[in-house]
Amino acid sequence: MDELIFKLNNVHFSYLKKYPALCGIDMQIAKGQKIAILGANGSGKSTLLQLLDALIFPDQGNIQAFERQLREADFNDASFCRNFRKRVGLVFQNPDIQLFCPTVKEDIFFGPLQLGMDRPKIEKQVGEIIEGLGIADLLERSPHQLSVGEKRKVAIASVLAIDPEIILLDEPTAGLDPQTSRHIMDIIIEANEKGKTIITATHDLHIVEEIADKAYILSRQKRIALSGPVVELLSDAELLREHNLMHIHKHRHQGQAHIHSHQHLDHHQH
Ligand SMILES: Nc1ncnc2c1ncn2[C@@H]1O[C@H](COP(=O)(O)OP(=O)(O)OP(=O)(O)O)[C@@H](O)[C@H]1O
Ligand SMILES: [Mg+2]
Repeated sequence: MDELIFKLNNVHFSYLKKYPALCGIDMQIAKGQKIAILGANGSGKSTLLQLLDALIFPDQGNIQAFERQLREADFNDASFCRNFRKRVGLVFQNPDIQLFCPTVKEDIFFGPLQLGMDRPKIEKQVGEIIEGLGIADLLERSPHQLSVGEKRKVAIASVLAIDPEIILLDEPTAGLDPQTSRHIMDIIIEANEKGKTIITATHDLHIVEEIADKAYILSRQKRIALSGPVVELLSDAELLREHNLMHIHKHRHQGQAHIHSHQHLDHHQH
């Protein structure tokens, strides 16, 4: 296996010590992998990404990142913290949590400036990202006045601006139109082709095959129900139905109503 980035060993986490969110997660993620985290609402996907981003820490078990255990106390050390934040970036499920500056431009520059990157390097990098995402006309606007899709693009730009080795994405295509969604996927795939490790939590089975080669499915018990190559997991209809990744649809064919299962993979052409 290539260089290990994350190694999770029996990780448990509860909110406020009473709402279990993850119960005994084992996982190994190597450099350059494309990973999808799948599972029903409330199965722990966002919690897992926040643990990987060291925003929260396990109650039990441990997480190693870059061969060193993540401990809350180490993040009081400014240089350790800066180094970790430079290497790992999280695009939140809710962009409103991530965007807090008066203008889009300030939001995108905030991370790299905080991390002490020099301005000419940031200017060059950010210029390319802004062009790639087509958000040049939003720069002077307040992030709070943008549409959901625009906010999501700005949130992605603000993480790409840091140029992290590991990009964690929480439902990156939720609420996006098909073209914008395609665009975001291309950016994710391109980042992976440049050697970045990509870990995406999603419900959108349309995108999984492209943005991941391996997937983990979290169960309602907040454990890993199954992991393996994406093509294998996606071909198991029973498994997808069991984890709310496939839904039952009512359709009308030539005047007659039918009810049948439907993966998000299928297009609504029936
Ligand atoms: N701030 C919080 N306080 C208390 N419980 C929480 C909090 N955030 C999440 N939880 C609980 O932790 C569990 C896992 O939540 P999490 O947000 O990680 O799920 P998810 O798989 O990302 O869901 P979704 O698909 O809806 O985004 C859920 O049971 C949820 O109720
Ligand atoms: Mg979530």
